[in-house]
Amino acid sequence: MTDFPVLPADFTYGVATAAYQVEGAVDEGGRGRSIWDTFCAEPGRIRNGDTAAVACDHYHRHAEDVGLMAQLGVDVYRFSVAWPRIQPDGSGPANAEGLDFYDRLVDELLAAGITPAATLYHWDLPQALQDAGGWLSRDTSHRLAEYADLVARRLGDRVGLWMPLNEPVVVTMFGHALGTHAPGLALGFDALPVVHHLLLGHGLAVEALRGAGVDRIGIASNHQPAWAASADPADRDAADLLGTLTNWLFADPVLRGAYPEGFADAMPGPVAEDLAVISAPLDWYGVNYYQPVLVGAPGRGGAGSPALEGAVAAGLPFEPMQIPDVPTTDFGWAIVPDGLREMLVALRDRYGDALPPLYVTESGCSFHDVVGADGRVADQARIDYHDAHLRAVADAIAAGVDVRGYFAWSLLDNFEWAEGYAERFGLVHVDYDTLARTPKESFHWFRRLLAAR
Ligand code: GAL
Repeated sequence: MTDFPVLPADFTYGVATAAYQVEGAVDEGGRGRSIWDTFCAEPGRIRNGDTAAVACDHYHRHAEDVGLMAQLGVDVYRFSVAWPRIQPDGSGPANAEGLDFYDRLVDELLAAGITPAATLYHWDLPQALQDAGGWLSRDTSHRLAEYADLVARRLGDRVGLWMPLNEPVVVTMFGHALGTHAPGLALGFDALPVVHHLLLGHGLAVEALRGAGVDRIGIASNHQPAWAASADPADRDAADLLGTLTNWLFADPVLRGAYPEGFADAMPGPVAEDLAVISAPLDWYGVNYYQPVLVGAPGRGGAGSPALEGAVAAGLPFEPMQIPDVPTTDFGWAIVPDGLREMLVALRDRYGDALPPLYVTESGCSFHDVVGADGRVADQARIDYHDAHLRAVADAIAAGVDVRGYFAWSLLDNFEWAEGYAERFGLVHVDYDTLARTPKESFHWFRRLLAAR
């Protein structure tokens, strides 16, 4: 008898994906070009020169994928809408074929008893908006709201949870400060205006969604405890700065209506007025959690952590380091389930009553799984990962934090951004030659956990 983690009876379980990582069909359905298409076409940007032109072909195989989720017995599917399918050039009227695709997907989910949860911006900005300045331009915030309105008017009657943004910190840090993600800008601290425009876009999109009669609006924000490498004040300062940039620079404006000390002056526009828009109350708040980060002052010489590689080279005053003595995934990410409990408790302690109910909108791990001769994908390490992280959520709940759900990243192995297809996060294995889906042992474990409720 397996002994499953014990969560409240009404706890919500989901799986998550993002449009660019699974859909493929980049030239179909009237879709416009996104910054990730451009980035993938630049030599040296993506491991092995991979592109997302086909990815998991979810655009054509969505019915099969919904079938897998029905078999899994999951409550929620968190997917993202591809902005360039809805507005090929990033503004103006909706492309009907784009809306029709998500309309069908939503109906299939509902027919399977699965609640659709829609992310509006999971990093695939229409290239035309990038050409006009992208997230360095205030206009992009308004474009996000216009796009949100188009989607909400079509899907608002059926989508259960809404997220205007996924991980604005990653968009800023990797896309604009370090340049390892699209649009590939390595601006260091000159990327700070991107923070404000993303947050303003979030606030304006929330307004647009409410205007279209939609509720249950949140955000999916990446969070990670930032631990100092030593008690040395230089290491502590470095960890505080990275912790602020990762955890509070985005959450404070949304949940408190203020930037952390020292940041407001770096932001463009009428910041005080904008903060009133940015901090409009949310119905829930989503935490994407993968690993804590150990931080030293630059030059500390620790073996660099794969996350945030290149921070020092880009002139950022902190050095992410490998956490000693913890297991890692095949991606080299530290496996520290208690870091999730620590983060959930830290959010509650910082924001108190201003913190809406939490969802873990992503958590997961990459292992380089293979389909065995017996047709099985033996991924006990992923079972252990999700088991331990669900127990960490249970611990946070026992400590009084209101956590309502946990969404595994990801349903499918998929296009892992700059890592291409080298990393596999799925509960379902994807063979990229045949596009065959094979549920892994972790899928079957999840299915049993859900059935045992
Ligand atoms: C998150 C992101 C996902 C997925 C995951 C694993 O940062 O939202 O798109 O790639 O990480 O790296």
